[in-house]
Amino acid sequence: MGPDTSKTRICFATEIFETLIADPGAEADFLEELRQGTLMLSEEDEAGQQWCEEQGYLGYTSYASLDDLPERIPAFAELEKRLVKAANEFCHALGYDVGSEPLTMNSLWVNILDPGAGHSGHIHPNSVISGTFYLDLPDGTSPIRYEDPRLPFMMNAPPQRSGIEADRKRFIYVRPQEGHALFWESWLRHEVMVNMADDPRVSISFNLG
Ligand code: NI
Repeated sequence: MGPDTSKTRICFATEIFETLIADPGAEADFLEELRQGTLMLSEEDEAGQQWCEEQGYLGYTSYASLDDLPERIPAFAELEKRLVKAANEFCHALGYDVGSEPLTMNSLWVNILDPGAGHSGHIHPNSVISGTFYLDLPDGTSPIRYEDPRLPFMMNAPPQRSGIEADRKRFIYVRPQEGHALFWESWLRHEVMVNMADDPRVSISFNLG
């Protein structure tokens, strides 16, 4: 019996995909158009402002008020195109067969999280792939935190030792770079921790189905 008589299989892995969508060096103008568009929405979308106030959302999101950002702002149409392409590549890598029709954007919305604001744990129902594109991540701003989807089954699991490998942890913290997007399966529960930076944390989130 040698040491090669044992093996460990890694099964049912959960993938979180990060990719560059807009290069902050080469495409500064494009990113600035997206920032200006986001700012304009936050100033002009009164229904959205009212929704944020009623919900206690510190900052602004177009989530509940606007569903046509790519028609309103050309830079958002270009962003949507790039996100749809990357999401379909991810969907393919996951092994899904979606037939001859690729996934399309169900919704796309902006998020401005003011200092002190966070977004508690949630999933994105009625979608296949969800994600977020990052426009402004000031120094010290919060990561996004993903939860191990097996947590509800862990009735008798001991606590974890400190210093274990990052991908064995029950909570995974990701702080992407500006111009990058993260993609994950829509059932994966996640949360944005409180923004501890002095400036707003600006991102654009989306669902595909
Ligand atoms: Ni979310």
